[in-house]
Amino acid sequence: MGKITYRNPVVEDAEKIVEFYNYVGGETSYLSFEKDEYPLDVKAQEDIKGLEGNVNNTMLLALDGEEIVGIATIYSSHKIKSRHEGELGIVVAKKYQGQGIGSTLIQMLIDWCKGNGVTTRIRLDTRTDNTAAASLYMKFGFVVEGCCKNQTLLNGRYYDLYIMGMMIK
Ligand SMILES: CC(C)(COP(=O)(O)OP(=O)(O)OC[C@H]1O[C@@H](n2cnc3c(N)ncnc32)[C@H](O)[C@@H]1OP(=O)(O)O)[C@@H](O)C(=O)NCCC(=O)NCCS
Repeated sequence: MGKITYRNPVVEDAEKIVEFYNYVGGETSYLSFEKDEYPLDVKAQEDIKGLEGNVNNTMLLALDGEEIVGIATIYSSHKIKSRHEGELGIVVAKKYQGQGIGSTLIQMLIDWCKGNGVTTRIRLDTRTDNTAAASLYMKFGFVVEGCCKNQTLLNGRYYDLYIMGMMIK
């Protein structure tokens, strides 16, 4: 395991990003998609192109050498009444968890939001039993704002989701 570096993606990363999401989708059940449910490269390429120069959407990669080991995103609407709210998504590969990569990604995203001139609030959803994620978010000041009952159905069992959020300015 080498030194972890962080950067925004370029279009050439699309294939690796899709591979990573499909891999981690099978590694954890806490994501909203399962193994191989993540969209194809073509869509990822369009997404990455769309991020270039985008004021309130961004993606950050954590890399060990050339290998993607974590991804965090902020996606926002362009609608006037809701464009100040970014939705945060994050995943770190199991082998790399517990080393501060998730914290670094979130701190970098918060800093990015503070500087983009638009985002004043971040929200996210997390399964109520995902204690690692919930404590990570709380460490940064997120609070539980609500709870959606039975939002996830997995292997015949229902799970609740917390809606978490925080103002950043
Ligand atoms: C949630 C996740 C992104 C955290 O990434 P990470 O790189 O392991 O995070 P860090 O090493 O920076 O740990 C940050 C904090 O998370 C919490 N945490 C991490 N692992 C934990 C665990 N096993 N149990 C409880 N808290 C834990 C701690 O609060 C920790 O802060 P501390 O080190 O100051 O005590 C990662 O576990 C992950 O990808 N999980 C699977 C996908 C997922 O759940 N994504 C979020 C969906 S909402």
